[in-house]
Order: sequence, then C-alpha cells, then structure tokens
Amino acid sequence: MPILQEHVERYLNELRPQRAPVMAEMEELAARDGVPIVHWETGRLLAAICRAMDPVVLEVGTAIGYSTLHMAEQLQLGRVVTLERDTARADQARDFFARAGVADRVELVEGDARETIPALEGPFDLLFVDATKTAYRDYIELAEPKLRARALLVVDNLLMGGDVAAPPGAPTTWPDESLASARALNSELVGGRGWVGCVLAVGDGIGVAARV
Ligand SMILES: C[S@@+](CC[C@H](N)C(=O)[O-])C[C@H]1O[C@@H](n2cnc3c(N)ncnc32)[C@H](O)[C@@H]1O
Repeated sequence: MPILQEHVERYLNELRPQRAPVMAEMEELAARDGVPIVHWETGRLLAAICRAMDPVVLEVGTAIGYSTLHMAEQLQLGRVVTLERDTARADQARDFFARAGVADRVELVEGDARETIPALEGPFDLLFVDATKTAYRDYIELAEPKLRARALLVVDNLLMGGDVAAPPGAPTTWPDESLASARALNSELVGGRGWVGCVLAVGDGIGVAARV
C-alpha cells in the first residue's frame, strides 16, 4: 500500500525515467514473482548518496540485487558488500550484477546476516538495512563496530504502507511484531539521544540517521 495520496504517488511514478534494460528486467521479475524490492525513489536516493559520497556500503538484504544495482552503478572507488541468506535469490542477483557490468564493485556474502556480519572487515561508510524487519536492531548492533564514526544509516520499510501510524487493532498485512519493531526503531532514530535521524515518507518509509 502506498504511503502517499494516490495522485501524488501517480505523479511521482510518471516522473520516473525509463530504466536501463537490466534494471527494468529486475523490476519485471520482482513484480511477477512477488520479490520485495525497494521503490524506485528509495533506490534513487541511495544512488544519489553513493554518487556524492562514493562510499563503502554494507547492505543487509540483497534479494535479486535491485537496490544494490542502484548503488553500485554510481560508485567509482567505493563498493558494496551485500548480504543474502536465500541461495536462489543470491544466484539471480549475481547474474544481474554480471549483466549490468557492476560485478567488480559488489561482493555478495551468502548466509544469515546475524552470522556473517561479525566476520566482515569494514570500515563501512553507509549501512543500508532491508531484511527481516524484526531483526533490524540486531543487524544495526552487529554492524556498528564495523562502521566509520560518521557513517550514514538508511533503513527501509519504517512506515510499512502507513500501518505503523494506524490505530491499535486497525487491519494490516504486517505482523504485529514487525510493526512494533518499526515503531520502536522510529522512536529511537528520531527521538533518541544516540542518533541524528528522521523518518522520510519516501517509498515505504525510510529512516536516515547518523550516530551522535
Ligand atoms: C526486502 S528484500 C531485500 C530487497 C533489496 N534490498 C532490494 O530492494 O532490491 C529482503 C531480503 O533479505 C533477505 N533476508 C532476510 N533475513 C535475512 C538475514 N537474516 N540474513 C540475510 N538475508 C536475509 C531475504 O531473503 C530477502 O531476500
């Protein structure tokens, strides 16, 4: 469910430029097979950050590599280390990276991120979190020792189609634990003392924050 009013969502969709063939193919595959990928605007925001900062990125949750491709396309000296536990999706992602010509900038680490993060080298300039919603805090806590002091954190699905803002008992397709987890993280990123952060109504709602 879009978090913006329908006419605003339609307007933004119409602004989107035509995608290059591999990215278009990924969008088609995701729509056909029900693979959850970021909205184009979220991918584009990550792309702009990557273009400006040329960071070393840690991404938790590759799926077929759509958000990874948005970022990798913009990197020069930077690179993306991306984590995925689903072998079939990881294989699809690798194929897309090769065909899009970004394989030299992407390292895909297979396995449960809660087990693979501790062995990563870092330091990372950008942490993008987009995997199991109830484990977001685990990923962030595990990744923090690998981040540069002024690293940027971006987290997807923090508004969950607007359902995080719905009154208790309202109908939702999201599990209660995921909603509770997103609400707790939103409060911490925006109102907690440990972060300079905000939640933006981009895509499915993204948290953008840096450690104080
Ligand atoms: C929302 S999708 C990622 C979409 C991707 N960021 C994109 O926009 O193109 C979430 C992915 O995280 C993976 N995932 C979930 N929990 C994970 C974990 N603990 N470790 C590694 N991958 C995980 C799932 O298999 C799934 O492919």
